[in-house]
Amino acid sequence: MEKKKEPKRIISETEKYVRQAMGKDRSGHDWWHIYRVRNLALKISELEGGDPFLIEMAALLHDLDDWKLGSDGNFSRTKKWLEALKLPKETIFLLTEIISQVSYKGAGVETIPSSLEAQIVQDADRLDAIGAIGIARTFAYGGSRGRLIFDPEIKPEKHADFEAYKKNIGPTINHFYEKLLLLKDRLNTKTAGKLAETRHSFMEKFLEEFFREWNGIGET
Ligand code: ADP
Ligand code: NI
Repeated sequence: MEKKKEPKRIISETEKYVRQAMGKDRSGHDWWHIYRVRNLALKISELEGGDPFLIEMAALLHDLDDWKLGSDGNFSRTKKWLEALKLPKETIFLLTEIISQVSYKGAGVETIPSSLEAQIVQDADRLDAIGAIGIARTFAYGGSRGRLIFDPEIKPEKHADFEAYKKNIGPTINHFYEKLLLLKDRLNTKTAGKLAETRHSFMEKFLEEFFREWNGIGET
């Protein structure tokens, strides 16, 4: 019979797998996004609690089946990997549940995860969507999907449901008003709330300067 794998080994094999699986992404969902989300999630967990193994595994796997990256919506790759690791059914269920609750689903859609582990991984993912890194990732994503930087004639949307959010093809600046600036008030933990402050005000400063320069006129 095959020996049961140690948690450390499971994590390092998962890290290797994800690094290879996300290696070609150029939309801001590359390995280094996963790396930061894992580190942020573990940092939050040190102060907020939760099961560190579930948190680290979910953080590593959270974008493997993301709808934006062409997934079938059934978390098939994630489940296949967890099954290949021979993890107990209960652990596979818990991890899939956490991962399914992480993603943002629209300005008008409330998504509060049911477990502390999912709340922490969602907070970590959202912290990496804001601040200087968030700005860089958003323009990388917009460019990868052929979106305009900005068009003053196209107004931001408040998506009533996930379907409306998925259909949205507005300019990248709109994404700040449709998601990024809303995130600081949608974090689950106090620790993430604190980490969000500097990142949030940096985005506000960025937008202020962006609009100051936008017209090419009126600058002093
Ligand atoms: P989430 O699951 O919350 O969407 P991800 O890790 O998948 O989190 O990353 C989402 C990031 O992808 C956004 O924060 C942004 O940088 C980029 N993104 C998603 N949708 C758009 C969009 N419509 N315009 C620009 N960037 C986008
Ligand atoms: Ni992510």
